Order: sequence, then structure tokens, then C-alpha cells
Amino acid sequence: MKNINNNIGVSIVKQTIQPVYNFNAGPSALPSAVLEKAQQELLNFRGTGMSVMELSHRSAAYEEVHNNAISRLKTLFSIPDNYEVLFLQGGASLQFSMIPMNFLQKGQKAAYVNTGVWAEKAFAEAKLFGDPYEAASSKESNHRFIPNLHDLKINQDDEYVHITSNNTIYGTQWKDFPNTGEVPLIADMSSDIMSRPVDVSKFALIYAGAQKNLGPSGVTVVIIRKDMIEKANPNLPTMLKYSTHSKNNSLFNTPPTFGIYMLGEVLGWIEEKGGLESLAKQNEEKAHLIYDAIDESNGFYIGHAKPESRSLMNITFRLADQDLEKKFLEEAKEAGFVGVNGYRTVGGCRASTYNSVPVEACMALRDFMIQFQKNN
Ligand SMILES: Cc1ncc(COP(=O)(O)O)c(C=O)c1O
Repeated sequence: MKNINNNIGVSIVKQTIQPVYNFNAGPSALPSAVLEKAQQELLNFRGTGMSVMELSHRSAAYEEVHNNAISRLKTLFSIPDNYEVLFLQGGASLQFSMIPMNFLQKGQKAAYVNTGVWAEKAFAEAKLFGDPYEAASSKESNHRFIPNLHDLKINQDDEYVHITSNNTIYGTQWKDFPNTGEVPLIADMSSDIMSRPVDVSKFALIYAGAQKNLGPSGVTVVIIRKDMIEKANPNLPTMLKYSTHSKNNSLFNTPPTFGIYMLGEVLGWIEEKGGLESLAKQNEEKAHLIYDAIDESNGFYIGHAKPESRSLMNITFRLADQDLEKKFLEEAKEAGFVGVNGYRTVGGCRASTYNSVPVEACMALRDFMIQFQKNN
């Protein structure tokens, strides 16, 4: 069976003409226009006679791809001049360790806001290097909400504050960010980076694996304020120092060239869509199609996140009846909805409506939910 993509970004399985709606949590949907362009350029990349994957990372042709991706990111995300954009490897998970390695030492404190599994993993890594503490937690409610900004316990002598802007598993998202004054604010934006405009100047460091909103897996975007690079721990292995990558324009060693090319193309697609303001509006519309189906179901579908903390990227819900939930997931799968099951350790249902998921897919899921409720 071979997948082909139509113009609206919905893959069609040729043999059965069955639409496939990709709601995967990551890696996730990519714009079909980008996939088509990559396909067209695959064998002869811009006159080089070879694919982008076969170019030397020191060649002029690749350097253009690399720098173009960086400058698109800076422009689209309105990144101030005192920040660097780095393309690293090791996923967001390596950032969980690199951040405390660079900025936290024994006897020093850092505030971690516990809003879910990924935040906890980041916290656990920090404990290996210094004395992090929990500035707030939503754990007791099974992470149904984002703590109130006023409830965060932050000390002015903390090395940094760490938050997770969007909680992929629980479907919660920060709507506003704390003002941490002189204390550097660090955010894991893996599952909502560039889904909306953000005031980057509030943050000392933002990081995200590309595989949800920006491209294929293998590239980790790090946006870091220059003074952070200067004050980092110098006694670290070369590859684990931000300064190594910043001094070398993320070309100290071989970068994931194909992933960076794809990321640049996804950013080009975001430009064509009118940038982050317009993308944010579409993301809001898309998520609301599904939230409305939940809210208008009279308790047939139950949203996990508290309404004021709802994510526009990951919509988490359950069915009131467990057997019915199983049936819902089976029928959704048969109807071509991919990735609608919740995270492996949490269960329930989850629709990830990242940037590249077309509105048509969200309409189809909403219609399916309404029909399933009628039938059951
Ligand atoms: C919010 C968040 N942080 C971190 C990660 C881990 O990312 P990676 O697999 O790139 O290490 C994920 C993965 O889904 C995530 O959703």
C-alpha cells in the first residue's frame, strides 16, 4: 500500500481510497506541499545532481539551506538579535541534561514547574547536577491544569526557572508566561513551538524537538540568549557546551542535514500561510472544532484538561464508558484516524492538532465524534 497526498494535506491510501487523518503526537503530520517539494528535489537538489542528503555539510549548497533555516526561524519567531538559534541532536531529552549541566552546579537552586511527565523528566536530570526544587505542581489533579502564575515559588537567587509550555500527554498549555525578573526563564516548547507568536525576550532559553511542529525528528531547536552561553559551565565535554555549537554555527560536527532542510521548508510553508499570527488563528479554529464536540456531548466525551488550561495542540479526552472508549478507538482507527489513542501510560484519547494538521482532518474527526455519539 502506498500513501499519496492530496492538496489538502490528507493522505489517501491508493488501494482503498480511504483518507488517513494523521493525529500522531510526534513524529507527526508534515505539510503535503513540503513533502511534495522534497520529493521533487530528492534526486537532484537545486542543480547539484544529488540529493540534499548527499551534499557535504561544508558545501555552499548545504550552507545556504542551513542559514536559510536559521534566518527563517529568527524572522518568523521575531527572535531578538541577542539570541542564537542552534540546531542540535539528542532530542529535547538531551536538553533536560544539557541545561543543568551548563547552568546548575552543586549547591545551586533552580525552580522546576511540574506540569507532567516531560517536566518531571527534566527535573530528574537537574537533580544529578544541583539542587532543583518544585516551584509548583499539578500532579495531584493528574496534571489537568497549568498552575496560576501567582502561585509559583521562585527565588531571586535561583539559577533559572524551567517550564514546559505545552504538556503533550495531558493536553494543557501555558497561556501566559511568568515574569521571572532577573532569573532566567527556560521553556521546553517541544509540542507548541511556533504554533503561536511568543515574546521570545521573556526567555533565556527555549528548546524543542522539531518532530511535532517543525519537521522530522533528529533536529532539536535551541534558542538561547547570548549572555547564557557566556555564563555556562566551561568544564564540560565539547559536544555538551552550547558555546561549541554557537561558535560553529551548529556546524561543529555533521548536523542532521536532511532534517534541517525539511525544517527550513516547513518554515517556508508557515511563511506562505501568513506567519505565526495567522497560523495561531487556524490552530485555534482547529482545536475548537474538537473541543466543541466534547463540550456539546452532554458528558459523552469528557475533556481531561480544565478549560482555561486547554492545549491547542493536544486535545485529551475520555469516554464516560470504558468499553465504549475501546469501541471508539477501534472505529476511529477503521475510519482512518491515526494516533487518536492517548499516551501509553495514561490511556484515553488524544488528538494532536499541530501546525501541519489540516483543518479538514479536524472537521472529519469532529464529524466522526458526533456520529459515534449518535450511534451509541
Ligand atoms: C513536551 C515534550 N518534551 C520533551 C519530549 C521528548 O522529546 P524527544 O523525544 O525529542 O527527546 C517530548 C516528546 O514527546 C515532549 O512532548
